[in-house]
Amino acid sequence: MLIKKPAAIRPSEITSEKNYLNRRNFIRAGALLGGSILAPSAMSAVVPDKRGAKLAGIRKSRFSTDETPNSFEDITTYNNYYEFGTGKSDPYKNAQDFDPLPWTVKVEGHAEKTGTFDFADFIKPFDLEERIYRMRCVEAWSMVIPWVGISLAEVIKHFRPTSKAKYVAFETLNDRKRMPGIRRGSLDWPYREGLTIAEATNPLPILAVGLYGQVLPNQNGAPIRLVVPWKYGFKGIKGIVRMRFTEVRPETSWNMAQAREYGFYANVNPNVDHPRWSQARERRIGAGLFASKQPTLMFNGYGDEVAHLYKGLDLRRNY
Ligand code: MTE
Repeated sequence: MLIKKPAAIRPSEITSEKNYLNRRNFIRAGALLGGSILAPSAMSAVVPDKRGAKLAGIRKSRFSTDETPNSFEDITTYNNYYEFGTGKSDPYKNAQDFDPLPWTVKVEGHAEKTGTFDFADFIKPFDLEERIYRMRCVEAWSMVIPWVGISLAEVIKHFRPTSKAKYVAFETLNDRKRMPGIRRGSLDWPYREGLTIAEATNPLPILAVGLYGQVLPNQNGAPIRLVVPWKYGFKGIKGIVRMRFTEVRPETSWNMAQAREYGFYANVNPNVDHPRWSQARERRIGAGLFASKQPTLMFNGYGDEVAHLYKGLDLRRNY
């Protein structure tokens, strides 16, 4: 469903959008809030305690596209997050009262370092980066999103997976009380996703904790979600509470729901159609009703960085 959007706002206006979301106090997960004189390395320890708060100490990334990002409204009102409903505006409407903090991430499986970490401690060792990525949904629409996050490859290295770790599996919070969509049973909960270790240690994927320089809105997966720009959007699991290093390929939610339509790899591929529609073109959200669709690029345009991961693999069978 398409919803009506307010006039687009310029990126320069975004950080003053303080009243965009409800003001609520969260438990303080970090001691340092918005101190602009701190060195970048210390900045990554900053977890602002308010929704919509500005993140500090963000580095720019060489992986960012120079395409114009979608507006904050586009990115935060047109979402898929079935835990909050299946309509595109449901996550925006139904996730406003969700309190993401306190939050813990459990790391388990074949790694030397495992355990349960408070969100602030989990992200503390890593640099915050802005990565402006093209995102392509399997439903044939796309956006450009200025994420703020930490490198997944750095996170993986930090936990020192053993030689048995061939995959990384992720799980979302599964809380019927706080996530109204879960009660409707549209998927087999918790939402699950996975990557091969080679994919997860590629420099491109990030664990996003913000967008447009501010704390990640609930509807986009607060407080932490995966972003893999060369794969269809459904690989970008939101609200991550568990990461597991596995020897066998983990189950993934959309593959479990419809294996013929959604594979494990889910690489953006204009040459392999979804069984019910073409993947050759895409509609850029926000471009206007009369804008023509644009061609979809192999690996969403990130082929130089990732094509080598799939050498010799039949991408028609491994969709
Ligand atoms: N993660 C969870 N936990 N639940 C979901 O329903 N939807 C996926 C993905 N991550 C989903 C999820 C799909 S289908 C898409 S297209 C992207 O989130 C959308 O991310 P965005 O709303 O931030 O653009």
